[in-house]
Amino acid sequence: MKLTNKLIDTVKPSATLSITTRAKELVAQGVNVVSLGAGEPDFDTPDHIKEACIKALKAGRTKYAPTVGTPDLRKAIAAKLLRDNGLTYAAEQIIVSCGGKDALYNLFNCLLEPGDEVLIPSPYWVSYPEFVTLARGTSVFMPTTDETGFRITPAQLEKAITPRTRVLVLNTPSNPTGMGYDEAAQKELAVVLRTHPRVVVVSDEIYEHLTYGGFKHVSFAKLAPDLYERTFTVNAFSKTYSMTGWRLGYTACPNKEFALAMGRLQDHSTSGPVSFTQDGAVAALNASQDCVEMMRTAFEERAKYFVDALNRIPGVHCLFPQGAFYVFPNLAAWKIPSFELAKRLLDEAHVAAIPGGAFGADDHLRMSFATSMDNLKQAVGRIKTWAEKNVNH
Ligand SMILES: Cc1ncc(COP(=O)(O)O)c(C=O)c1O
Repeated sequence: MKLTNKLIDTVKPSATLSITTRAKELVAQGVNVVSLGAGEPDFDTPDHIKEACIKALKAGRTKYAPTVGTPDLRKAIAAKLLRDNGLTYAAEQIIVSCGGKDALYNLFNCLLEPGDEVLIPSPYWVSYPEFVTLARGTSVFMPTTDETGFRITPAQLEKAITPRTRVLVLNTPSNPTGMGYDEAAQKELAVVLRTHPRVVVVSDEIYEHLTYGGFKHVSFAKLAPDLYERTFTVNAFSKTYSMTGWRLGYTACPNKEFALAMGRLQDHSTSGPVSFTQDGAVAALNASQDCVEMMRTAFEERAKYFVDALNRIPGVHCLFPQGAFYVFPNLAAWKIPSFELAKRLLDEAHVAAIPGGAFGADDHLRMSFATSMDNLKQAVGRIKTWAEKNVNH
């Protein structure tokens, strides 16, 4: 008997998770797989963060916490937003959720009316359209290519806006492309948005501190202060502090009323994140940020090697990432659809990469460099050998 409803039937499984699951199956069978599928840093959570959490646990902070996040953490996030982003938020405007995903899921559910349109630059992170579907909205994709650094243009934005448009999603630096919008590029988009007062911005800044080649992240709400009233700044602890398993993210809302609405949703869904983990998050924000710089430097060094080595393989065209920990090489010259290519690379070359088709860009694969230099070298060697045998130019 079919039990699921029509809405959940339209939600796609996560391609990221399905490739990494298949890679794990092969590993369990004894196959030596190099995984470039990971959406998480390969570093452990820094010790001082773990210790703060253990201390909280031992001190008995094991009961229900406020569903919107502990007062200490909301205060620490507000201080962080001022310190790192130059943004002023009261602690009451901050809603802590169970990871960036939960923050975004709740946000779309509090924002959208049925049929509202959400503008999503493509290639896009796999979950955005599914959040929109689950909130009964409609995704409208704005295609971009590597020729323009995977950035939408102001003209493209203007053209895509209709009376039904409610949200523009900005993800800079981006998963999967690794490219970002600098201050000037974001300001150009702000000019367009000023003439469309119904459109709000969801600014997903989860990779803000992992930037390379001198790229500087600037928060949308900072560079367009007059649009603060309609900007939601979303972030999480997952990538910056290598805390993916802790499930902690947050939304900085333009006003307290909206934050209260998100709080009401969380009252009846998760009751908020785990209590004692939030002490770890406070330590992450308030202690030295050297651990973040250590990871960033390591990622940058890997990116330099990886992009250069990939571009030496015939038919590969790969941009140097401005942030995150992904490269998104263009493999159109290989003339193999991305799902087939990813499957064959996994089964035949034992390299796990994510098909670009899952992100709306079938000429590409997403490869994570959140893995050791040794693994990256192995992966390049295997891909090169496989391509020599299997690709006709
Ligand atoms: C662009 C982007 N936003 C949000 C998230 C959600 O992160 P998490 O729920 O692990 O905090 C991810 C995770 O991959 C991401 O890549």
